Parts: sequence; C-alpha cells; structure tokens
Amino acid sequence: MRLRGKTALVTGAAGGIGSAAAFCFAEEGASLVLSDIDLDGCETVCRRIRAQGGKASAVGADLTIEEQIVDLFAAVRRTEGGLDILVNIAGGDLDPFSAADSISSESIDRNIALNLKSCMLCCREAVKIMQPRQYGRIVNMSSLVYRGADHQFSYAAAKGGIAAFTRSLALSLGQSSITVNALAPALVDVPVFRKALGPERWEALARECASRYPLKRVASPLDVARAALFLASDDASFITGQILEISGGARL
Ligand SMILES: NC(=O)c1ccc[n+]([C@@H]2O[C@H](COP(=O)([O-])OP(=O)(O)OC[C@H]3O[C@@H](n4cnc5c(N)ncnc54)[C@H](O)[C@@H]3O)[C@@H](O)[C@H]2O)c1
Repeated sequence: MRLRGKTALVTGAAGGIGSAAAFCFAEEGASLVLSDIDLDGCETVCRRIRAQGGKASAVGADLTIEEQIVDLFAAVRRTEGGLDILVNIAGGDLDPFSAADSISSESIDRNIALNLKSCMLCCREAVKIMQPRQYGRIVNMSSLVYRGADHQFSYAAAKGGIAAFTRSLALSLGQSSITVNALAPALVDVPVFRKALGPERWEALARECASRYPLKRVASPLDVARAALFLASDDASFITGQILEISGGARL
C-alpha cells in the first residue's frame, strides 16, 4: 500500500476524475478528506470507500469563496491533525466555445476564480500545514489546453496559470521536501461531458479526439487517477515542478 499512514485531501471529489482519484488513494491506504461543492456527491463517494474498508470523510466547500477554503483546511487540521497530500482537482470550463471577439469580463473572472485562484489558495493553506512538518505532495490539475486551445480562452489561460504556479511553488518549497506537480490530461471520458453533450455529440467528439491521439482512445478517469497517485506517492519523491501530460501521446 503506497499511501499507508498518509492523509490526503482531494478536491472535486464528487466528479469524474476526483472520485476515481479518491478510490485509487483509498485502495492504497490513505486516510481521505474529500471535498466538493456537491456535498451529496462527495458523501456518496465516502460511503462507497468506507464500505470497501477505506477511511474517508466529506467536507462541502465552494472553492471560489476564500473563507470556505480556509474553513476546509481548518477542518482537515481538526479531524486529521495534519496533511501529507493535496490533490487539487476541482475545476472545469465555465465558458467553452466562446469566440475571440466575445470573451467577457465575467467569464474570465469565473474561470480564473474556479480553476486558478482556488488552486492557489488551497495550496497556500496546505503549505501552512505541510511546511512545519517538512513533508508534502501537491498535485494540481492543469489540462493539455495549457498549451493553448481555440475557443477555450479563459480556461486555457487559467490552466496555463496553474502550470506556471506549480513550477513557482516547486521552486519555493523544494527545501521543505514538498513536491508540487500538475496533471495535464487531454480529453477524459467523464459523466459530466456525456450528460452535457448527449450520447451522439459525445461519441463524435471522443472519436475525433481519439483519432488524433497516438493511443487511439481518449483517457479514462482511472488513467488520470493513477498518474495522480504516482505523483502523490514516494515513487515520485525526486520529481517536482513537472507538468505531466496524460494525453495518449497527443501533441508530441
Ligand atoms: N474531463 C476532461 O476532459 C478534463 C481534461 C483536462 C482537465 N480536466 C480537469 O479535471 C478536473 C476534474 O474535471 P472532471 O472532468 O472530473 O469534471 P467534473 O465536473 O466531473 O468534476 C469537477 C468537480 O469540481 C466540482 N466543482 C465545481 N465547482 C466547484 C466549486 N466552486 N467549488 C468546489 N468544487 C467545485 C464539481 O462539483 C465536480 O465534482 C477539472 O479541474 C477539469 O478542468 C478535465
């Protein structure tokens, strides 16, 4: 068990990738705090983990609100006494398919708040707990769009910001034995896309993307969760400041 004795906080844990990460981490023995704005979804994941003998509790938080982030980490401190691993998965594109001449100020604010600012503030709170302990693993969620993507302007900028922030934090925290890395997945098959697009449009999108990826398929949530597990474990003890593309070889 690669995470036995470790406490991990996973945000976005009610979602496709977040719940897959939670199950993976539980299987490896981590004691989990799962957080999401969707508390019911989070509690469902917790119940399944506990039914399988794992340890997990749920804390609801809207990560676009700073006070709720501070309260979340206070709850982690109170219930767990410390934190070894932070996996910042909450996020999503709140303004997909916009045109370059209609990028709105409001959509910029919303995407930066949900994807970049929340990640930065969660890291700040985690560092307060990890630094005195001189140990930590932080895994942030970027996206392959950090390289740029047409029609995903503010989302791509936010995910690019996460890449730059991840490297900056890695530079700053190395001397405290805290590693900071980010995941950059290409398209992942998650329920939220299937629901939003409907089966036909989803299949068409997945087929089109898969045809461009050398591995000829899109990612599963488990593909991403396993990469998060690797970066969170001591198998990755000398890896920091990296943006790990989980893309089936797209954009080589
Ligand atoms: N699915 C993909 O193709 C893909 C590709 C690259 C990166 N990502 C990133 O992976 C992460 C997970 O996405 P997913 O595909 O599992 O989608 P998802 O929608 O299933 O998961 C996102 C989770 O974030 C939660 N969330 C949304 N707003 C929140 C808020 N204000 N506060 C707290 N939690 C909030 C949602 O409730 C949801 O559970 C996101 O950061 C996304 O940008 C996804």
